[in-house]
Amino acid sequence: MKSIKKVCCIGAGYVGGPTMIVIAAKCPQLDINVVDINEERIAAWNNSDLDKLPIYEPGLKEVLKKCRNRNLFFSNRVKENISSADMIFISVNTPTKTKGIGAGQASDLKWIEASAREIGKYGKGETIVVEKSTLPVKTAETIKSILLSFTKPKELKNGDDKSFYVLSNPEFLAEGSAIDDLENPDRVLIGGDNKGAISALKEIYLNWVSEDKIITTDLWSSELSKLIANAFLAQRVSSINSISALCESTNANINEVSRAIGMDTRIGKEFLKAGPGFGGSCFKKDILNLIYICNHYGINEVASYWEKVIEINNWQQKRITKIILEKLYGTVSGKKITIFGFSFKANTNDTRESPAIKICKDLLEEGSFLSIFDPKVNPSQIAIDLGIQQINEKNFKNNESGWSFSESLEDSVNNSDAIVILSDWDEFCDINYDNLINKMRKPSWIFDTRNIVNKNDANKSGFNIWSLGNGSLI
Ligand code: UDX
Ligand code: ADP
Repeated sequence: MKSIKKVCCIGAGYVGGPTMIVIAAKCPQLDINVVDINEERIAAWNNSDLDKLPIYEPGLKEVLKKCRNRNLFFSNRVKENISSADMIFISVNTPTKTKGIGAGQASDLKWIEASAREIGKYGKGETIVVEKSTLPVKTAETIKSILLSFTKPKELKNGDDKSFYVLSNPEFLAEGSAIDDLENPDRVLIGGDNKGAISALKEIYLNWVSEDKIITTDLWSSELSKLIANAFLAQRVSSINSISALCESTNANINEVSRAIGMDTRIGKEFLKAGPGFGGSCFKKDILNLIYICNHYGINEVASYWEKVIEINNWQQKRITKIILEKLYGTVSGKKITIFGFSFKANTNDTRESPAIKICKDLLEEGSFLSIFDPKVNPSQIAIDLGIQQINEKNFKNNESGWSFSESLEDSVNNSDAIVILSDWDEFCDINYDNLINKMRKPSWIFDTRNIVNKNDANKSGFNIWSLGNGSLI
């Protein structure tokens, strides 16, 4: 296998962008081209104003500054960069299918297939193709079979033909800590059936990851491991969220329970924070994929087991809206409710599958006016997610619903009846309660779904507080 000099990444999203930025920074000897069909996104990656990059990730702009236009380039030139690449990463989107067979469960692989066809068509010589996107098991087989259709049979090869080697190298980064996760991974997983191709990819990671953290395996085990890692993480979140409801009914405190069980090294303390339910582009999609695969192989009991993880997640979101309604005398119609945090968690501008979407839609359905504040999410994205445009509060009519985006946390609460905290940005943990309550209607409520409010301070200022999984406050 020839040594890798030119790398191409198809897809400049939440996975492709940060991953290539870190590889470029760690491997100055490589020439990396990130390509995307979305012109706006590429223009944003090339923006000289580093606060206008298409995604927000702590530490990302600092690393990008070091390598952009040195050995890292963003462009829409898909064909040219495929042709010249020794190694191509596929980091395109794989959302859940919305129609046809497997709708609502299976992943839509049309973008993967399109990428594989482009690689087949424009790839030259020996090319290693690395699947990075989260994919259902056996996708590598699909990619392989498409690529094979572009190559000549062995007996007809004459030396300068194309050949492809497919590897699975799932990404385990979490949004909000992507740069740190990429620079200090728990492990790097490489699945494949060609030793030379595996070594070539391993060589890249060895520039900054120690060898004992690089696991090599077969293609299918690698693909499945990614799915299962996400399913296990999501399961922990649903488990602790289910217990948050029990704590509320029994006067216990979910934080105390998490602390106590997390100190058992067999359980571990990570991923035991109760909240409004998991969001993000991976957890739900991956569990749905798992369910689909299990049903496909006739293992229906296993499929129903994992279905429960999603059911609890949906229930948790519904439950929060119900509690808000109950506490606000059974109706939010005509009331103003302030939402702190619209992204699916802190430190990201990503709203995919954010619990805020469902909770806000339900509150809108009940006739409330929402004042939404988020440090990084763009209001145009909120309009897409909620399916309605924001309006000026003055035009809000009773018996209808509406929302507006607030540029500041302080302004967002003017005349509000309640604040609903949905993500745990640092600035929500350090609130001047006196300042806020003076601008709100009485009684003033805080619904804290992330357990970040300083209850003593908030109480002293006169707030009524509902805090998730905190029985003693209810
Ligand atoms: C996840 C996986 O962590 C990552 O390895 C994979 O590559 C992609 O999917 P991500 O979705 O970016 O990453 O974020 P993560 O930190 O895992 O959080 C997912 C959701 O679970 C968020 O909505 C978060 O708020 C929620 N969560 C997480 C909790 O409610 N409690 C916790 O203790 C942890
Ligand atoms: P992820 O979170 O998996 O990175 P994103 O949706 O953020 O997903 O990014 C995927 C990117 O892949 C998008 O910017 C999309 O335009 C791009 N993309 C999809 N199909 C192709 C393709 N055939 N060629 C180039 N880019 C593509």
